[in-house]
Amino acid sequence: MKISLSSQALAAATSDLVAIGVKGDQLKVDPNVARIDVLTSGSLKRLLADESFKGELGETLTLTTPAGMKCKRLVLIGLGKGEITDVDTRFFGVRASQLMTRGGSLAVSAPATTSTALRALAEGLATGAYKYTPYLTGDRKPKRILETAEILATGKTSADAKAAINSGVMVAESINLVRDWVNCPPNDMNPTALANAAKKVSSAAGIQCTVLDKKAIEKKKMDLLLAVARGSGQDPRFIHMVYKPKGANKKTKKVVFVGKGLTFDSGGLCIKPAKGMLDMKCDMAGGALTIATVFAAARLKVPVEVHGIVPATENMTGDDAYRPGDVFKSYDGKTVEIINTDAEGRLILADALAYARDLQPDYLVDHATLTGACMVALGAWTAGLFSNDDALAQKYAGAAEQVGESYWRLPLNDDLRDALKSDIADLKHMGEGFGGSITAALFLREFVGKTKWVHLDIAGPAYSERSHGIYPKGGTGFGVLTALRFLETLG
Ligand code: BES
Ligand code: MN
Ligand code: ZN
Repeated sequence: MKISLSSQALAAATSDLVAIGVKGDQLKVDPNVARIDVLTSGSLKRLLADESFKGELGETLTLTTPAGMKCKRLVLIGLGKGEITDVDTRFFGVRASQLMTRGGSLAVSAPATTSTALRALAEGLATGAYKYTPYLTGDRKPKRILETAEILATGKTSADAKAAINSGVMVAESINLVRDWVNCPPNDMNPTALANAAKKVSSAAGIQCTVLDKKAIEKKKMDLLLAVARGSGQDPRFIHMVYKPKGANKKTKKVVFVGKGLTFDSGGLCIKPAKGMLDMKCDMAGGALTIATVFAAARLKVPVEVHGIVPATENMTGDDAYRPGDVFKSYDGKTVEIINTDAEGRLILADALAYARDLQPDYLVDHATLTGACMVALGAWTAGLFSNDDALAQKYAGAAEQVGESYWRLPLNDDLRDALKSDIADLKHMGEGFGGSITAALFLREFVGKTKWVHLDIAGPAYSERSHGIYPKGGTGFGVLTALRFLETLG
């Protein structure tokens, strides 16, 4: 999406729709409301009263062909109460774009004009109009999509403001890519396709991307990844992207992101029931987020070295599929007894985390749609956050809070560690019964050594049956904003 900045007055905006954000507790003193009320000879305030508009978060009020103005429709969007934060501003941008389902031209009045607010507004505008349409044909194919938007900000056309908007658009493009990749049907989004997507964005950003094919993965002895891949006709891939900032030196921080790239999770021989299997194309969301985050980090030129590592495979039931009771040796040498083939994510992550640890990062961050248990614990909109380092956990949670994404720290409860003991191997890969997201995290911890590590279980928020807040139905792109904010706070 192209977003331009204009110092035009509200009354002069000729677009199909002009959107204005208002705080419910400031309706009486809002300068835009006052100005439009004068232009429309009092119709706005009459309508506000008639419709008992309160300015609650997401509430809208529409004025068609407002007298004294040049636009076709004017919409007030409620922003709740209190001061206007960047999170509110992003949400406002999303809502404004969502009103443009039939295309047309959109102008929004910037609720705040700091650089961070303008970036958030651009992020909202360019993600709000998202629709996944590649597989629609004929009449189902949308004829018009929202391609441009104009931000009205009086007296604000500085180079800084424009740069902030451009950054917002780049962030939004990464979020929308995650959505595209997650929504793509699993017959087309296979491990090779995911690797090709990583290569494509890497070359667009001018960064390095190495993809290991099955032979190369065998050579590296990533036998846990290979075990999961055995049941599939699709060969696995191991993706490694690297962004190094210009002028990097010894002081430059290094962050390695690892993401679960399970392009389809049938459960393997411990097969899922049909209902639980339907949405399992979403099981590469952590991988998608990882690729898109490195892409955005490179485009934003964050002053941090960023790696993205994605083990990519399907979990299927072919005649060579791995079995409960099998034992495999991980990349770092520990042997693992397989208990349930549906707990496949932690296996491919174990090899990837051990490989990532060898890169000696300052911080190791993994994202995975890992456990249904995490959704039981926290609900569908909140990700679980686990860490072996309190300061890192706080940093990551702080970044999430700044961008308004929902994470909740869960404990790496050592009491549950016993459940991972195996009679015949170094480790079992799962515990029994309660605390499933914790035992999964404890298993991962075995492979990170002393590296400062944070594990984000995004099983809930990565994919959604309904749109919610700034997120659409289907692939949400959850987590990109937090990952980028985390990187930006390190630089
Ligand atoms: N990919 C699933 C987890 C998942 C469930 C993600 C629902 C998104 C929505 C994972 O591979 C899985 O199957 N986990 C099992 C683990 C169990 C067998 C220990 C689960 O959560 O049931
Ligand atoms: Mn599974
Ligand atoms: Zn899975």
